[in-house]
Amino acid sequence: MSDLRVALLGCGTVGGGVARILLEQPERVATRSGRKIELKKIAVRDISKPRPDCIPASLITRNVAEIFADPTIDVVVELMGGTDIAREYVLQALMAGKHVVTANKALLAEHGVELFETARKHDRVIAFEASVAGGIPIVAAIAQSLTANQITAIQGILNGTSNFILTAMSEKGMSYSAALKEAQRLGYAEADPTLDVDGSDAAAKLCVLAQLAFGLNVTVKSIERFGISEMNSIDLKYAQELGYTVKLLAEAWLDGKDVAMHVAPVLLRNTDMLAQVRGAHNAIQIMGDVVGETLYQGAGAGEMPTASAVVADIIDLAVGRAQATFQAAKLWQPSGKGFRLRPS
Ligand code: NDP
Ligand code: HSE
Repeated sequence: MSDLRVALLGCGTVGGGVARILLEQPERVATRSGRKIELKKIAVRDISKPRPDCIPASLITRNVAEIFADPTIDVVVELMGGTDIAREYVLQALMAGKHVVTANKALLAEHGVELFETARKHDRVIAFEASVAGGIPIVAAIAQSLTANQITAIQGILNGTSNFILTAMSEKGMSYSAALKEAQRLGYAEADPTLDVDGSDAAAKLCVLAQLAFGLNVTVKSIERFGISEMNSIDLKYAQELGYTVKLLAEAWLDGKDVAMHVAPVLLRNTDMLAQVRGAHNAIQIMGDVVGETLYQGAGAGEMPTASAVVADIIDLAVGRAQATFQAAKLWQPSGKGFRLRPS
């Protein structure tokens, strides 16, 4: 089979990790894909910034248009973040006949209907495993493994940065601002970290999960959300003394034809499984009407865990799995599947 040629838009925390896997583990990736995956170009904003040593300078470009115009590139991997330029580039990539992989939950939550309509029109696929919960295969779990079920409830820690901050404040006595700085240094936070701490990032991920579980088209703005920026060490200390842990939870549950959704810091008993999720880890409990309760836990942010999910999407495209899932799942249809968001 012919090689699959890939271009990255973005070479920051996640893009750097993806490049590392593709360039340092080519045999593993080719074996799992049944064909060679060639990394052809990497678009960035600033070509003078240092990049991982494994990346030849010849791959780096500022010229995104040349990627869309190159007929040999099969897959564009959007790892820039943001919703405006990223939307424009993803639309251009699809219209140029390229499949798209993205880790950008904000983009999907805001423009999912338009992007998926464009993908369907051009017979292309958008794969997005890395957009929710970093390295945890939660999209595949819902879109593939739980399809015998009607999902009835989702409850999760979906933002690694805020969980890292809450853990560092309660276990190490770090201040809120020092913990946030450390999360930024480790590559967990968004370019605008307000999105992490005000609940918007978790809400965007909940929008993606609600699309998968309920076929519900919702945007971040329509979800009631409270963040952790008002929390202080004293709140967390009192909670601990009473046997509780504070976690930023994102929740969605079915109530007849309505889906209720919100993001808020909540008190969990220390014995609760979600209370024990520490650092930048995420965890998600999914309830299905056939399977009952299932739990997924692991690294929810960071370079290599997220790159693991992105490369899995590229491999799924190479073997045709992503195409099959995309067609069956019928995501971001303009009319949804009949459930509606319960007004808060
Ligand atoms: P970074 O800020 O580390 O990297 C962004 C990259 O995009 C940089 O290489 C930047 O170029 C490039 N870029 C930005 N704007 C443009 C543009 N207009 N044209 C070309 N290149 C551009 O982000 P992350 O890697 O942390 O995140 C990327 C995406 O992945 C986001 O959508 C994020 O939400 C998502 N994500 C992040 C995770 C994480 O743990 N960090 C986990 C899961 C998802 P330059 O380097 O030159 O500035
Ligand atoms: N900023 C996000 C987080 C990255 O902290 O969870 C992973 O999506």
